[in-house]
Amino acid sequence: MIGLMPANDLAVVILAAGKGTRLKSSLAKVLHRAGGRTLVEHVIAACAPLKSRKIVAVVGHQADQVAAVVEPLEAESVLQQPQHGTGHAMQVARRALGSAKLAIVLPGDAPLIRTETLRAMLAAHRAANAAATILSAVVSDPSGYGRILRKSETSVQAVVEESQLTDEQRDLNEINSSIYCFTLEKLWPALAQVKPHNKHRELYLTDAIAVLTAKNEPVLAHVAADPREALGCNTRADLAEVDRIFRERKRADLMDGGVSIQLPETVLIDEDVTAGEDTLIEPCVQLLGKTKIGQRCTVRTGSVLSDATLGDDVLVEPHCVIVQTRLDSNTTVGPFARLRPGTHLKERARAGNFVEMKNAVIGEGAKVPHLTYLGDAHVGPKTNIGAGTITCNYDGFAKHPTNIGRGVFIGSNTTLVAPVRIGDGAYVGAGSTITENVPPDSLGIGRGRQVNKPRWAARKRRELASPQHSGGSARPRKKSKPQKKKPRGR
Ligand code: UD1
Ligand code: CA
Repeated sequence: MIGLMPANDLAVVILAAGKGTRLKSSLAKVLHRAGGRTLVEHVIAACAPLKSRKIVAVVGHQADQVAAVVEPLEAESVLQQPQHGTGHAMQVARRALGSAKLAIVLPGDAPLIRTETLRAMLAAHRAANAAATILSAVVSDPSGYGRILRKSETSVQAVVEESQLTDEQRDLNEINSSIYCFTLEKLWPALAQVKPHNKHRELYLTDAIAVLTAKNEPVLAHVAADPREALGCNTRADLAEVDRIFRERKRADLMDGGVSIQLPETVLIDEDVTAGEDTLIEPCVQLLGKTKIGQRCTVRTGSVLSDATLGDDVLVEPHCVIVQTRLDSNTTVGPFARLRPGTHLKERARAGNFVEMKNAVIGEGAKVPHLTYLGDAHVGPKTNIGAGTITCNYDGFAKHPTNIGRGVFIGSNTTLVAPVRIGDGAYVGAGSTITENVPPDSLGIGRGRQVNKPRWAARKRRELASPQHSGGSARPRKKSKPQKKKPRGR
């Protein structure tokens, strides 16, 4: 039974109130993005599988914006205002923790942490009945981090912040990740003894460690198997490094799942993207947001897909931009197509080169092969849309729909002035401006009638070549315009 129950003595606290001064940004640090998500979203995603009784996020800087990100992910936000340090942040979270006995505490700016690592740390903490367990990491460049001062192989003496290191401590390369497990009844009294004895006048959570060890409480350091999980994003360079690691991980995951990626280091894939077996991703592709790709699809070079949903066997030719669009199985797109939100190509439909669509549904097997804009449009199955067809969906005030039936043929260079309806099986003559509905199976033509003037061109050439014509220059004069009444012999 115990194994099945959620660990109800456990709560999670995410410290996310800081400004992130070193990023030099108007945006709160935890709202910066890496791997296609905000930093704090990654941290919550790593904690969610622990099934703790609750996740508390301490917010402060840009509290409303941070709360708006964490609350939909079922984290409760608690306001820390002003921000007096990581120890103070924990004190602020106290009431929200209720009767939890253990807390896993994480900074909102270390997004590479993985659930398995948290589980291992928690297991070590429980097994040793520790007061605190610190997730540490052994790194080649420890600068910027608090260092672990060990008492023995297994236990910790203190965490020393970078600014307080003595010369011989400076070379210690085991760092504090700022991820901890605390037995809360031990933490609160220790934290109450911490003083803001540092240049920022802050209460450091790290100082609670020395208080605990002074009381002979057991404090462990659990070394992360992969030190990258401890990486905090304090600077833009840190963000870039963390982003790179996420992208690498994501590509590796997809390749493990049977996706081929050419020149993988040129391909950018967000965390929430999925792709099926035997799909091929060519170089310099970006797959963003919640894009979902089926099996045996090909996304060719230079294409950017954002929140797109592709069925199986879809071909995206080079250099397409596809946003919030559904491409059903066996559809083909591009090259150079732009599919904007609300586009849906049904099975075997095609959107070819230099085609733009927005809020457009294209029926099964319908073809829009080239140079077309379809907005607020519905196209029936097996319809063919000629090159240069434009829906005039906007009259300067409102958007209007264009409805084209099944098996319709729209001739090239047609302008469809919405709202307008083309019935099933109808034809529209090339070059038409269609302002009225075309009934089913009819021909709609809306264009100026053609006039042929026999021998006009030959006469014009003679006239331009004649000696009277400004010294034989080929440039036409105003006077020599063809005149209706007396064209001859002049
Ligand atoms: C902290 C640790 C350091 C560790 C490093 C790992 C302290 C004093 N130092 O330093 O030992 O090596 O993390 O990345 O804890 N926060 C609040 N409220 C506050 C202050 C901070 O919520 O009043 C949050 C921040 O938003 C951030 C986290 O706590 O997410 C850590 O704060 P930060 O300023 O980044 O600490 P570091 O200097 O990196
Ligand atoms: Ca930090």
